Amino acid sequence: MRVLVTGGAGFIGSNFLNASVPRRREHDFINVDCLSYAANPKSLEPIAGAPNYRFVEGNIADFAFVDALFERERPELVVHLAAETHVDRSIFGPRDFVTSNVVGTASLLEACRKHWRPGVGVFHHVTTDEVYGPAAAGTKTTESSPYAPQNPYAATKAASDHLVRAYAATYGLSVRITTSTNNFGPRQHPEKLVPLVIANALVGKAVPIYGDGKQVRDWIYVDDHCDALWAVIEKGRPGETYGVGAERELANLDMVRRVLGALALEMGRPQEAFEHLLTFVADRPAHDRRYATDASKLARECGFTCKHSLDEGLKKTVRFYLDDAAWLSAAKSGAYAAWIEENYGKRH
Ligand code: TYD
Repeated sequence: MRVLVTGGAGFIGSNFLNASVPRRREHDFINVDCLSYAANPKSLEPIAGAPNYRFVEGNIADFAFVDALFERERPELVVHLAAETHVDRSIFGPRDFVTSNVVGTASLLEACRKHWRPGVGVFHHVTTDEVYGPAAAGTKTTESSPYAPQNPYAATKAASDHLVRAYAATYGLSVRITTSTNNFGPRQHPEKLVPLVIANALVGKAVPIYGDGKQVRDWIYVDDHCDALWAVIEKGRPGETYGVGAERELANLDMVRRVLGALALEMGRPQEAFEHLLTFVADRPAHDRRYATDASKLARECGFTCKHSLDEGLKKTVRFYLDDAAWLSAAKSGAYAAWIEENYGKRH
């Protein structure tokens, strides 16, 4: 099968390709990515020369480019991972989020509508449980929870989800949707909590905790998420949505301590070595208090459950950043310092 992966130079995309290209030789993978600030070409070095892999640079929000791409590559499966994802950036400026997440999805859907005959092609849309807004204490979001996005990022993902479902209903496009909880793992840009904690701790910088640090997230190891995508591609029902999560809730402060604990362990330092770095800073506006996803439909229908414990995932994550210092310094070059100043400069 010819598989078009969008956003394959980003965090989840590059992990998906690094796991899939060598192990699924029966498929040809085409990676389309615009190489924005969040992409790190180093993430693709392990698969660069693989015979069943090709990279195409381009912007999915460009309708003519995507149309020509479909004409040339004739994909049979689209795994749509390209997105602007950092909530804090969406608060500073939602425009790029509308372009990539809404217009980018629309242009892919238009190309599917034009190029796919009935019965040919599947559009797998990867989205977030943030579209449902915060989960009240004692409840979990399910595939039928109402949409209530609170921040611009979540709103643009919600809009893209609605477009995907509308194309399925109106034009009969074969789609599948997965909503994932917070991911962590190797190759994640250090603007996100887990790699930010590691990157800052490595140079003795403060580790910023928004508000009281009691916001709850369900953290899934990225390889588990990628395996879940294949489980849905292979066993999911057309038109269905599947919640993906590890069903492992942690308050941010606890998660940060677990990350620092894993780092200390791998560096052979005492557990308390980094405790003094924890710094409470001003909260994020519209900060959702808790996300929690019920992943039982995925387990029931696709036979999928996560393989990695939190500690196993954190150990692999920490090892990646310790072992590949060049990856981290590439990610921290360019505009990274300006972003850190913009986001954290006024929080203290
Ligand atoms: P993030 O990785 O940005 O993911 P999301 O906002 O999509 O959940 O943040 C995870 C949680 O960590 C979120 O509740 C915000 C919080 N956070 C901090 O406390 N400090 C930080 O410096 C960052 C980036 C996030």
